[in-house]
Amino acid sequence: MINLPKTIEYKDNEVRIIDQTLLPERLKIIKIKDCEMMGKCIKEMKIRGAPAIGAAGALGMVLASLNDKKDVNEYLRNLKKCAEYLKSTRPTGIHLSLIIDKILGLIENENDIEKIREKILETAKKILDEDEKINKEIGKIGSELIRNGFRIMTHCNAGSLATVYYGTALAPIYYSWENGKSITVIVNETRPRFQGANLTAWELSRTGIPYILITDNAAAFYMKKNKVDLIIIGADRIAMNGDAVNKIGSYSLALAAKEHNVPFYVAAPVSTIDKNAKKGDDIVIEERDPNEILIINKKRIAPKGTKVWNPAFDVVPSKYIKGIITEKGIIKPQEEEIRKILLNGNIYGCKI
Ligand code: MRU
Repeated sequence: MINLPKTIEYKDNEVRIIDQTLLPERLKIIKIKDCEMMGKCIKEMKIRGAPAIGAAGALGMVLASLNDKKDVNEYLRNLKKCAEYLKSTRPTGIHLSLIIDKILGLIENENDIEKIREKILETAKKILDEDEKINKEIGKIGSELIRNGFRIMTHCNAGSLATVYYGTALAPIYYSWENGKSITVIVNETRPRFQGANLTAWELSRTGIPYILITDNAAAFYMKKNKVDLIIIGADRIAMNGDAVNKIGSYSLALAAKEHNVPFYVAAPVSTIDKNAKKGDDIVIEERDPNEILIINKKRIAPKGTKVWNPAFDVVPSKYIKGIITEKGIIKPQEEEIRKILLNGNIYGCKI
């Protein structure tokens, strides 16, 4: 069994998260006591990965619900302010706004402060538990694609650290490993923030699963050399036509996979599907600080005044995706299949 620390937990009126900006050198737990600090941690990517950010949003609301305002209107105003602030921190991953809106919906007609507090806590706990269960299901289902001896490439970190536990793209890898398959993971370092090198490699090194780290630039050449049997990436949001938004570099990877006949899969919970996005281009892509590209290890790597474009994500067109591995099965990235899976669906206890 793999044994990794939980990414996020709630204990004694505070939220504990792993500070992902310090990995792989230091495993430090940050204790978060209020909504403001939670928002700052999300913005600075101390916690990141769409489902983990969603869980952070839920627990951020729990922290806000602890406020001691006596007047219910003032109390609710305070909660809503926190909700808006948290939602503004990172726009692309679907789970943050999805979960916060769900929580706001639940308390809409409530005017008893104690009851509101209870409801928010209960919902947040459910969301955290569900995340782990769903990911294990994704692992089990996705592992059917993995044969003994497979070399599986992944991009960014869609591992345990991107979720509450067990991951999405790494879940089939963990499940296969736990069930005795011999596998190797090819980890793309993932410029500019190196989530592959810092986080995925850290997780794999702790679990003992063999892996090899390559630069993003080496991925196509590695495929050309017949060293990749399968690619699994995660997704931050999926459009109704099956286009998947994921970490920048995913699109180039999909193009190279097509050229070299490497099966390209996306692993994500059904909750990642955005009913309001017809196609990938309808999804807002977060643009981040130029310094993420201009400065490495506190050293400037391009002249002052250099213009930068730093999108955090890109869109993988559905035509390059062989299948989407969800907790309800592997589906084709097509609107008809996506609609079917959403039918009678249930996301975080809400009818879809
Ligand atoms: O910017 P990040 O690190 O929050 O982005 C996360 C990703 O894009 C991951 O690759 C992941 O697949 C989506 S979350 C499981």
